[in-house]
Amino acid sequence: MSYAALGNGYLPAIRIGQIMNQKLISRAIERLPIPSSTVRRISRVIGDPESSAATVAEVLRIDPALSGKVLKLANSAYIGIPRTVSSLPHAVVLLGIKRIHSIVLTSELLAPFHNSAVLPFSIDRFRRHAVTVAFIAESITKHLQRYDALDEHELFSGALLHDIGKLLAGAVDPAAVTETYKRSKRLAIPYYRAENDEFSHTIFGLHLAQQWQFPKELTACIRGHHAAACFPELHRTVSVIHIADVMAHLLGYALYPDEKTPAIDEAALSAVRLPVERLRVIAEDILKQQDQIASLLEIFDV
Ligand SMILES: [Fe+2]
Ligand SMILES: [Fe+2]
Repeated sequence: MSYAALGNGYLPAIRIGQIMNQKLISRAIERLPIPSSTVRRISRVIGDPESSAATVAEVLRIDPALSGKVLKLANSAYIGIPRTVSSLPHAVVLLGIKRIHSIVLTSELLAPFHNSAVLPFSIDRFRRHAVTVAFIAESITKHLQRYDALDEHELFSGALLHDIGKLLAGAVDPAAVTETYKRSKRLAIPYYRAENDEFSHTIFGLHLAQQWQFPKELTACIRGHHAAACFPELHRTVSVIHIADVMAHLLGYALYPDEKTPAIDEAALSAVRLPVERLRVIAEDILKQQDQIASLLEIFDV
């Protein structure tokens, strides 16, 4: 993939001032990754309602590293089935097409940061936060009444990628991200509230989502997880990501260990129609799923 601009010590010094307009941010984003051919093929297949597990498996097969990851995950504690899964189409069925899509996207976007000192925060904490939010979002869907059902795979994808803009902001201007973090500490406010509106991680995420042609639900989760009400059409989906994000903070899996936890938006809770007492049960579930979480983290660690 064309990710050269993000390499360690490679990144041209793009200094983004306090006031950054859309043009500047777009220029910065242009230096960011373009999707690899595998990602483009998978995105095309995912976007086609006629696609089946067999079609997705065919695309994955072209990339041995990726098919290896998918098979490894299908055989891991994450899925937790007792027998060996050796066929790629079977692995695709078990994991779900949308979930595989988000895993592929996340792997690609994280890859340049392995052993990279570019970012102003811990990549391990970033991964851990994303994966924890994904598990919580999936768990929330299991606690909904049947008539309130949401697509758990879609939520998993939205959750896994919700903060992807932080990765990009951190790569493009680490000093600005550190400054934001310090401001949030000084003012005792959550990180997102200390951001400059035009340099926010949700704006960076939005640009990436557009550049990579993410589906609209995924884009809404990235752009709207701190302001779910701005997406009335997808309010419930985005609200789940918002709630899962806050819960990950409460469980100690924020990006920065001493980050101020954002408040849960009451409107999001009512939109999801999730009784508050369920949150405790979900939190307990997540704490019991450490092996499954570790299995998924391993996939992003190579
Ligand atoms: Fe966020
Ligand atoms: Fe987050």
